[in-house]
Amino acid sequence: MSKPDKPPATSDQSPADSQDSGSSVTPFIKLDCVTHSYTESDSVHTVLKKTSLSIHHSEKVALLGRSGSGKSTLLNLISGIDLPDNGRIHFDGMDIVSLDETARTIFRRQHIGFIYQFFNLVPSLTALENVALALELNGITGKLARERSLSMLERLGIADRAQQFPTRLSGGEQQRVAIARALVHSPAVVLADEPTGNLDAKSGSEVLNLLNDTVVDSGCALLLVTHSLTVAQTADRVLTLEEGTISEQVGDFAW
Ligand SMILES: Nc1ncnc2c1ncn2[C@@H]1O[C@H](COP(=O)(O)OP(=O)(O)OP(=O)(O)O)[C@@H](O)[C@H]1O
Ligand SMILES: [Mg+2]
Repeated sequence: MSKPDKPPATSDQSPADSQDSGSSVTPFIKLDCVTHSYTESDSVHTVLKKTSLSIHHSEKVALLGRSGSGKSTLLNLISGIDLPDNGRIHFDGMDIVSLDETARTIFRRQHIGFIYQFFNLVPSLTALENVALALELNGITGKLARERSLSMLERLGIADRAQQFPTRLSGGEQQRVAIARALVHSPAVVLADEPTGNLDAKSGSEVLNLLNDTVVDSGCALLLVTHSLTVAQTADRVLTLEEGTISEQVGDFAW
């Protein structure tokens, strides 16, 4: 997917759309009036209510919100894992909602890097194989995949752990492998769902710095979900998801 120059934007932007006030540009990721509900035993629970969001090329955006406010739901919509009930989601001009499931899976493999709170590494694969998997799913295999994966593990400072299985790695090491896996195929955006939520303060801080540095090096955008205001403030912009809507106000639940 191309990473074009930034043309001028239109002016119909909501607060979470508006970004840095001085430089309005066409967003890379754009959610318009997105609504998403879950139905459980006949009752409908609306998690996102006509919410809008814009993220620009190479922008680092943090998203704060109470537990259950819909942060992971939002990431699942942006990555095409789930579809909204209503509203539009555009990714570099492409309408994700109109894609069928196969096309959305290919889109996700090519253009999204995902990092989870609990690492989600494949236990039967070594650290190196876990990273290489992201390339193999995009048709890059063999020596080239191994070399690129090792290079990413080197960038994350854990090349010496490449042949270890996840159970032999500390939490911080596992998350560094997960960051390598998320970035090795040069995605356009990394979606990180509480990536330091399961780490102690020191390890979390190291992982956060590495994540921010590798995201900047690669030039991709980052949407970082967190409960921590300190973590959020490492981003270019901080948003809050509350009562189904995204705004630029920081709620009193963040610490
Ligand atoms: N598959 C599902 N079926 C039914 N309800 C769901 C489903 N997934 C999420 N929910 C509900 O939607 C709401 C939002 O969930 P979500 O996981 O997006 O919240 P979150 O902000 O990521 O929370 P946390 O900070 O605890 O991870 C919650 O009330 C949750 O119970
Ligand atoms: Mg969540």
